[in-house]
Amino acid sequence: MSLSESIKKLREEKNAVILAHYYQRGEIQDVADFVGDSLALAQWAAKTTADIIVLCGVHFMGETAGILCPDKKVLVPDLNAGCSLADSCPAEDFAAFVASHPGHTVISYVNTTAAVKAVTDVVVTSTNARRIVESFPADTPIIFGPDRNLGNYINSVTGRRMLLWDGACHVHEQFSLEKILKLKSQYPDAEIIAHPECKQPVIKVSDFVGSTAALLKHTMQSGAQRFIVATESGVIHEMQKRSPRKEFIPAPPADSTCACNECSFMRLNTMEKLYDCLKNESPEILVDEEIRRKAIRPVRKMLEISERLGL
Ligand code: 13P
Ligand code: SF4
Repeated sequence: MSLSESIKKLREEKNAVILAHYYQRGEIQDVADFVGDSLALAQWAAKTTADIIVLCGVHFMGETAGILCPDKKVLVPDLNAGCSLADSCPAEDFAAFVASHPGHTVISYVNTTAAVKAVTDVVVTSTNARRIVESFPADTPIIFGPDRNLGNYINSVTGRRMLLWDGACHVHEQFSLEKILKLKSQYPDAEIIAHPECKQPVIKVSDFVGSTAALLKHTMQSGAQRFIVATESGVIHEMQKRSPRKEFIPAPPADSTCACNECSFMRLNTMEKLYDCLKNESPEILVDEEIRRKAIRPVRKMLEISERLGL
């Protein structure tokens, strides 16, 4: 029996559901019950009837599922799958920042620990961040964290002046503008598409900016036949599946000796670890109950607003 068949068999036996992020290895995306961006993964976790959720993504994605589903076992194939953006926002420092700016509504990106979510008013993902910010009156003082690039992008498109936490993602910050422009001159017909976690100069030259799911949708709807993709290159697996005749060129990182347009944390999950974690029902995500009770409010709020907005 192949590894993929063994995983599927175990999944049936254990009434488990496998949810995978678009940045996972292609073979993991192919074996998953559902592949999506971080909003869709949270929405799926919230409604599943499975006993076990295997979240093939990074730690904060598993933690979000754990916050929403305290009665389920939530597994992540490799617990070391962290996130540099979440790491750039230690909970104690963020809580002190919030406390030193009273009267602000606190909006946090989902790429945060449960402890940061616990001092947040509403959680957002890249798919709903702009719409959720805009759902607050224009003069609402807002703290936005932890991604300074996403925060700057939202400020620039909405005219808001949100107070930003100074965090970033090491994958999205290292795309080389120079190399992207060189590719563009080589392929003038190509559209540059970028995730809003990229730095402003990359955003400025992009034809389309959006979350992982929005970028995917755009590549299906656009008349362009070629795209320079400035986000984690794992999403190209699904882009290529949905548009087999189109060409997708991963935007190059500044350092051409590394594969830094791949998130090293996301790639820690492998088919072997996925099989083992289903078999052993470990490693499990465990969220401190006091933190979970505080963190669930802003996560639920995000899901409610998203539903209202049809996202
Ligand atoms: P999405 O919200 O697009 O899934 O992004 C999550 C992420 O980790 C981006 O680096
Ligand atoms: Fe975190 Fe960046 Fe990896 Fe996304 S790509 S999980 S933000 S480190």
